[in-house]
Amino acid sequence: MKSAEIRKKFLEFFQERGHKIMPSSSLVPENDPSVLFTTAGMQQFKRYYSFPDEISSARIATCQKCLRTGDIYEVGDESHLTFFEMLGNFSFGWTRKNADLTQTNAGKSYFKKEAIEFGWQFLTEELKIDKARISTTYFAGEKEIPADEESAKILEGIAGLDEIKPTGFSETFWSLGTEGSPGGPTVEFYVDGIEVWNLVFNQFVLREGKYQPSEFQGVDTGMGLERLVAVIESKSDIYETDIFLPIISEIEKISDKKYGENKREFRIIADHLRSAVALISDGVVPANKDRGYVLRRLIRRAIVKGRQIGINKNFTADFFEDKNVKTELENEETKFRKTLENGLKIIETQKEFSGKVLFDLYQTYGIPLEIVVEEAKNFGREIGSGEIQESEKLLRQHQELSRTASAGMFKGGLADDKIETTRLHTAAHLLLAALRIVLGADVSQKGSNITEERLRFDFNHQEKMLPEQITEVEKIVNEKISENLPVEMEEMSIVEAKSSGATGVFDDRYGDKVKVYMIGDIENPFSREICGGPHVARTGELGHFKITKEESSSSGIRRIKAILE
Ligand code: SER
Repeated sequence: MKSAEIRKKFLEFFQERGHKIMPSSSLVPENDPSVLFTTAGMQQFKRYYSFPDEISSARIATCQKCLRTGDIYEVGDESHLTFFEMLGNFSFGWTRKNADLTQTNAGKSYFKKEAIEFGWQFLTEELKIDKARISTTYFAGEKEIPADEESAKILEGIAGLDEIKPTGFSETFWSLGTEGSPGGPTVEFYVDGIEVWNLVFNQFVLREGKYQPSEFQGVDTGMGLERLVAVIESKSDIYETDIFLPIISEIEKISDKKYGENKREFRIIADHLRSAVALISDGVVPANKDRGYVLRRLIRRAIVKGRQIGINKNFTADFFEDKNVKTELENEETKFRKTLENGLKIIETQKEFSGKVLFDLYQTYGIPLEIVVEEAKNFGREIGSGEIQESEKLLRQHQELSRTASAGMFKGGLADDKIETTRLHTAAHLLLAALRIVLGADVSQKGSNITEERLRFDFNHQEKMLPEQITEVEKIVNEKISENLPVEMEEMSIVEAKSSGATGVFDDRYGDKVKVYMIGDIENPFSREICGGPHVARTGELGHFKITKEESSSSGIRRIKAILE
């Protein structure tokens, strides 16, 4: 059975059982600044575990493209991948009291019993995997979260399933882990000791760092297609399945080397280029920060591995048809190859690798840190974790600086880029959010001018502000300063910015993408404003906020002057 057939069988199996088949979402999550990439099938449905009436079907199945870079250093062995497809079935809006609670999807939701039975049926009847090869685990309970006895009972009732093992929180409890995320105990299916399917029973919601029982229960399952295919094709090596064979044999052709003798390099090239293509297809371009930087690292590492097996000319674009993908890969490779040789020579001859040397190798030759570490190892030198941390710090500082510089000619009424001015700029965002609380949500900014001494801020309001209103605004701003809230920036389209509720000027002079600065919890920030920056990293840097003047600016427009003490 080939991968395409297995994928199809999965979706059909769940369609026959009342699931609506939905398309994969983009690798770049929409309207979710809390994550860089889509890492799980449930991500696009996160909200519906709490608001099940908003979803068009209580049962859904997908094949979701995912990218996880946490294990990037493991890639090269038999089973690790950065990009993979996740097969999943989902159910929303089930409650213990009454499975029929939701209006639109009455009676369609399911929970542990059906989810476990569907899983077992699919593996043993549809894929015809021998029952004796399958084992399972369930959540044994930890701290205040009780054991999942319910799942244990259901598993015990399945004829032919002999191995059922209780395991701990890190194995059999799953959640995205961000504030407001659903989470719960899991049941895992293993085939020949390899974990293939994770069934999550969302019965909690993460609030203020604690898993609280949730109003609705739901199901979120995920099964890595590549791993499943390896199991079905009886391959211990994922790269020998029909998913990877075409790319592996292409690398053999280009390098004139055998996979069997260069497995690690071949696997890294195959995995990284597959991820790179998926990212480019979803609109990511190589860059020096965020998603673009991840993409750049993947492409460059593939090139360095290619060089290690003797590929000394551009090759990354050779595997693919799409014109845009080819162009991006070709450009990036040409750029990188120009300085690669010089950089590698330095690595070869370098005696000491301080954090500064590591950073310079990246800065001057574009060689990402992990490549320097690996290459140095090839020459018999270990780089300490202290040096790595130091270079990562330098890189972050550098990215921060270029972000500030690229914010351009100090938009938002800033006179300069002095740190005092930047602090007052962040204070202006807090001020607007506080005014909207005290005077009403129709207050918007009508102009501003910020120097290193003071901020001047115009906004629409009919009457003079009362003294107690001024005091209240000051109090709110100072509270937010003392909470030392993080300031985060996310680039998004104007439409996304609008729908996220951001304040600010929505005219076209901003171009397609706009920067949105958020102050506070990223899921529910205190302030969310379209703005070119720059801003401080945390509100704690601001000091004490004081309004020095409140006056009329023009008809219907008030003006506040304020300082930070
Ligand atoms: N969300 C779970 C996982 O990623 C199951 O889909 O493993």
